[in-house]
Amino acid sequence: MSNSIFRKDGTAQGVAKQRLIESLAKPSKRIIYDPYAENFVLGAGIIKLMGHDFSVWLSKKFVPGFHEHLISRTRFIDDLIKKSISEQVEQYVILGAGYDSRAYNLELPSGLKIFEVDQPEVQEIKISKLPDEIPNAENITYVSVDFNHQSLKNQLLNSGFDKRKSTIYTLEGVSQYITREALNSTLTELALLTPNSNATFFMSYVSKLLREDPKACFGMGYLKPEKAAKFITNGAAKVGEPWISLYSSKEIEDLLSQNSFTLIENKTLADLNSKYFTPVGRTIPENHIFKIEHFVVAKSKV
Ligand SMILES: C[S@@+](CC[C@H](N)C(=O)[O-])C[C@H]1O[C@@H](n2cnc3c(N)ncnc32)[C@H](O)[C@@H]1O
Repeated sequence: MSNSIFRKDGTAQGVAKQRLIESLAKPSKRIIYDPYAENFVLGAGIIKLMGHDFSVWLSKKFVPGFHEHLISRTRFIDDLIKKSISEQVEQYVILGAGYDSRAYNLELPSGLKIFEVDQPEVQEIKISKLPDEIPNAENITYVSVDFNHQSLKNQLLNSGFDKRKSTIYTLEGVSQYITREALNSTLTELALLTPNSNATFFMSYVSKLLREDPKACFGMGYLKPEKAAKFITNGAAKVGEPWISLYSSKEIEDLLSQNSFTLIENKTLADLNSKYFTPVGRTIPENHIFKIEHFVVAKSKV
């Protein structure tokens, strides 16, 4: 990462850019809304001038379904957080938070403690770009951790994390950037952090099939899937954050199970199309389905 001209926030910006684009759609047409995304994206002014429809059209020219995939991931987690709140969750740990704005964008109860975990450089940039006044500020604690080299458990406990409280952890768009060992030790630490309390864990992972059989990661009839796969992986590598860890669904299920979690859901854009896009008249055709990355929800075995 460090030999990049980018400031370690290249991919975090990439995701925020898609959230900005979606937020420019008419309220009746959009599936997420993130008014903070524009603060983090270089060239946000140009994107705002281009508008939603043109930006999505342009994105389709390169990788059809990429925009829809990323915003469906955001929506899936937003919905999960809302559900967890209705079930009285007490702590929310955003692992590899990047420019995630849920802590101030969602309507969260005042008693919910939020921990945003990321590399210190990314957190510094994020804090410097946020408005002075943000909702929920008093409930947010920023915790610096490099998953590849540091103990998440110690950092969280030193920052006021309470082992007795029910907790939701999210690891969105991160597992591909960290080593397999780091993912395993992070999961082990999550289990140790919440040994006797309810814990929900969301993670996304990139399918191993991307290397073994790229065609399987896209809908039927998708034009040049190998080229799209290369475009996406090269894009991450170019901003200094290559995808180093890919998984099969069996590996993820086993990894979760070995660390006291039970897999509850494993979805891709293909599963969410009719739930999110059809109601706003934007059903994605099969030949534009992008399903490189999976969205997984697991519960602690207590
Ligand atoms: C693609 S961004 C996703 C950000 C955010 N979760 C989202 O979906 O908008 C990947 C994030 O993982 C973080 N990350 C990558 N490697 C990391 C590591 N070794 N330790 C901690 N955070 C890391 C990056 O700083 C970045 O914020």
